[in-house]
Amino acid sequence: MTEVSSQLSPGAAKLPRHLAVIMDGNGRWAQARGQMRIKGHQAGANAVRTIIKAARTRGIPILTLYAFSSENWKRPATEVSALMQLLGMALAEHVDELHSYDIKIRIVGDVSALSPTLQRTIAQVEAKTCHNRSMTLNIAINYGARLELTQALKQVAAQVVAGRLKLEDLDATTISQALYVPQDVDLLIRTGGEFRLSNFLLWQCAYAEIYVSEVLWPDFDEAELTRALEFYAGRERRFGMTSAQLAK
Ligand code: IPE
Ligand code: IPE
Ligand code: MG
Repeated sequence: MTEVSSQLSPGAAKLPRHLAVIMDGNGRWAQARGQMRIKGHQAGANAVRTIIKAARTRGIPILTLYAFSSENWKRPATEVSALMQLLGMALAEHVDELHSYDIKIRIVGDVSALSPTLQRTIAQVEAKTCHNRSMTLNIAINYGARLELTQALKQVAAQVVAGRLKLEDLDATTISQALYVPQDVDLLIRTGGEFRLSNFLLWQCAYAEIYVSEVLWPDFDEAELTRALEFYAGRERRFGMTSAQLAK
């Protein structure tokens, strides 16, 4: 059984157990340089490598990266196919390195809509790294929180209908466990300056601390990660209680 919601203990926040990132601003980064948007996505791949290595070094157990949303299919077909190619290439190219760091890679989202080639790469990458324990890296591809919640509710409803789950036993943990990403998010970083969730981890972000960075994703580096982690460490996570209660 996957470990769930274990970090819902109030008090001073230190290092996030689960860091989630909306990697936004690739297009603007490229456009500011008079380049095609896809150049921004290519440049963003370097920042992905930086944050994975930094998170692993700092001992963050779970990192979830938003790579392609269920709404991103609405983009021009050329951009969508370039992004899909880039994702497949990046996975194939970096799997050995990530495996050597003892990182478990999971692709979260509806992978059934992806090309057979990309699905094969995903299956290989997940199989190769599935026993790794030092960090879990979730890469969200064709991910949407409403899609995730809908499939989770169908799964839970099927258990009830089949008589394997009693309705009175259905609780928040049941739902968390049926999600692609069962663990609550501690710190959510969004680059590119937008203050919105864009259908990312709606359930899991119930008590997430949120850090919005003006930095465009391709410019994201260790210094900016450090600022986000310092912001997080300075938060008092109250989970509905008062400061006085926490001080006891
Ligand atoms: C984020 O960058 C990457 C994806 C959504 C795939 P954008 O492509 O959204 O960049 P902006 O927001 O247009 O600058
Ligand atoms: C969110 O960014 C999705 C990813 C980073 C993969 P978008 O650029 O798609 O979000 P909106 O459309 O500005 O809300
Ligand atoms: Mg964007």
